[in-house]
Amino acid sequence: MSAAMLDIRDVSKVFPISRGMFRGGAKLTAVGGVSLSVAPGEVLGIVGESGCGKTTLSQIMLGLLPPTTGEVTIDGQPLKSLGRLDIARRVQPIFQDPYSSLNPRQTIQEIVSVPLVVHGIGSSAERAKQAAAMLDLVGLPARFLDRLPSQLSGGQRQRVAIARALILKPRLLICDEPTSALDVSIQAQVLNLLADLRRELGLTFVVISHNLSVVEYFADRIAVMYLGRVVEEGPSAAIFANPHHPYTRALIDSALPIDPGGGIPELGLGQAFPDPINPPPGCAFNPRCPAVRPDCASRMPRLDAQGESRVACLYPLERGAVAAPASA
Ligand SMILES: Nc1ncnc2c1ncn2[C@@H]1O[C@H](COP(=O)(O)OP(=O)(O)O)[C@@H](O)[C@H]1O
Ligand SMILES: [Mg+2]
Repeated sequence: MSAAMLDIRDVSKVFPISRGMFRGGAKLTAVGGVSLSVAPGEVLGIVGESGCGKTTLSQIMLGLLPPTTGEVTIDGQPLKSLGRLDIARRVQPIFQDPYSSLNPRQTIQEIVSVPLVVHGIGSSAERAKQAAAMLDLVGLPARFLDRLPSQLSGGQRQRVAIARALILKPRLLICDEPTSALDVSIQAQVLNLLADLRRELGLTFVVISHNLSVVEYFADRIAVMYLGRVVEEGPSAAIFANPHHPYTRALIDSALPIDPGGGIPELGLGQAFPDPINPPPGCAFNPRCPAVRPDCASRMPRLDAQGESRVACLYPLERGAVAAPASA
């Protein structure tokens, strides 16, 4: 196996909380002991409900937030040993909202050139040339260079954000809900563009979504998060064909073709997502688990190998084990 493009080793993020009765001393574990590795050219999908820690983990991968414990390396280099330009040349973000992430007073050419300006790279003529090349790469006509974001559609703005992310020629892109703010009809176009760029440029991707169907066709491997932890991780085909964690099964059963309006799919799990300040004892999923057993509330499962995947469940589902077998 080749060296990892991105390696996340036992990363946690704990936020001190001071709200209401929790003033002083309370802690919220947004990410708890996550280890993941992404090979060069691979697409890792990260899925889970809102509040499970996806954005916090993405900010840590981008060096925007220091982890409380653990380490992130990119191309074998610890992120914390790299300067801002070194990080920016290796990894770039694509965020959810192409409306708020683009400065409304800048032209598209200025927006796409921002990373070059920030890092003092090139003359203004060279920057203009590169911005034009990037616009072409994402399938936008050169006449857009002089326009303002308000003159573009949501899908076109997200293409601009992708052009800006590529101008420093990073090899790794972290996409946090890249299509959740877009119309359903546009979401597939943006995902197809990312897939084309991956092929043409050999990029490595982490794609984060609350909706499994967004990562289904794009991701080689999928990590399912629940309350700050990875509860199942494996090749996409194995995750869909043979989910071992009851939570993964629930996500698959609730996955919408593509999620209109970016809402949260109805999981049919009855109870709400737990409070991360007061996590349930044992397996954090046990209060909502349709297959819960008595010791699930007292024993914390580890992420162990199961078939082609890793799963954190005391009683992982077997292939096809949906209904109880008829008695012989
Ligand atoms: N800066 C912060 N301070 C305190 N709590 C935070 C902060 N950022 C995120 N959280 C909490 O961490 C948990 C995970 O949030 P987030 O990473 O945004 O999840 P997701 O992206 O999966 O919706 C949530 O409970 C959220 O309220
Ligand atoms: Mg988020």
